[in-house]
Amino acid sequence: MKILLLGKNGQVGWELQRSLTPLGELVSLDRHSTDYCGNLADRDGLRHTLQTLKPDVIVNAAAYTAVDKAETDRDTAMLINGLAPQVMAQEAQRSGALLVHYSTDYVFDGRGVDPWAESAVASPVNYYGQTKLAGEQAILASGCQHLILRTSWVYGARGSNFAKTMLRLAAERDTLNVIADQHGAPTSAELLADVTAHAITATLRQPALSGLYHLVPSGETSWHAYAQFVLDFARAQGKPLKTATVTPIPTSAYPTPAARPLNSRLSNQKLQQAFGLHLPQWQGGVERMLAELS
Ligand SMILES: NC(=O)c1ccc[n+]([C@@H]2O[C@H](COP(=O)([O-])OP(=O)(O)OC[C@H]3O[C@@H](n4cnc5c(N)ncnc54)[C@H](OP(=O)(O)O)[C@@H]3O)[C@@H](O)[C@H]2O)c1
Repeated sequence: MKILLLGKNGQVGWELQRSLTPLGELVSLDRHSTDYCGNLADRDGLRHTLQTLKPDVIVNAAAYTAVDKAETDRDTAMLINGLAPQVMAQEAQRSGALLVHYSTDYVFDGRGVDPWAESAVASPVNYYGQTKLAGEQAILASGCQHLILRTSWVYGARGSNFAKTMLRLAAERDTLNVIADQHGAPTSAELLADVTAHAITATLRQPALSGLYHLVPSGETSWHAYAQFVLDFARAQGKPLKTATVTPIPTSAYPTPAARPLNSRLSNQKLQQAFGLHLPQWQGGVERMLAELS
């Protein structure tokens, strides 16, 4: 089996390089790859790559993820998140490949307090969310075999992430203010990659599993409680911190060019049932990442 991974150096792409390796022959590309075009802004090049490599599975971990910049850099955001997935979907439909694609809680408007089900009506809060929804819709319209995995608050051990930023700021500053009225679940790139590998294997065996799923760990938190969890862990490990208490602030006190949803809770019930998986509480992945830092 041949698997093509696009966006190999992103948070999720990096972990997918590990988790997809045992499944078959893996070709991993990023936008700078020279053997084959992995630049999603080059749709002809992308189509040529797909037609030349003829992968059995296409895993798209590449995306335009600069949420605030997307408000003004609209054409590029739509090209990468909406139009490039359309090319992948058309080619997957033509060749019979399975297309795996990631999407976001930002396709919802963030109202209410209940976890969003896959069947809930999407109504993006910002332009990034609109482009991600366009990508989803293009895949669904193509009729290709697909796994669209919506997730939230992704962190990877590699590079920067929210927890590392909180640790740095708590070591430098006397006070730390963090938004307390946005709720969701921090999702590790490791979990996303491991579940993706499992879901690919299951879907290739049982094509009826093709569909849209929410992939997040269990439980929920706010950015404020998440930050406090990180500092409590660091303090318990004896890390020197200038401040060990996080002050809660409302979203209105921290304006950003792109609006954020207050309710980013995603229900993971459908995915757990379809694939026979147990999705752990979010705290375990964060603790694991923090332990690896020390
Ligand atoms: N991060 C989150 O909190 C979050 C939340 C919900 C959903 N998601 C979704 O999860 C998926 C993975 O996100 P992530 O957190 O791994 O994002 P990430 O770390 O920002 O990685 C995105 C990757 O896409 C690449 N990329 C951007 N433009 C490209 C282009 N024109 N051609 C090829 N590659 C390009 C980037 O490459 P460069 O480094 O070269 O720019 C980067 O490696 C995305 O679909 C995202 O929308 C993320």
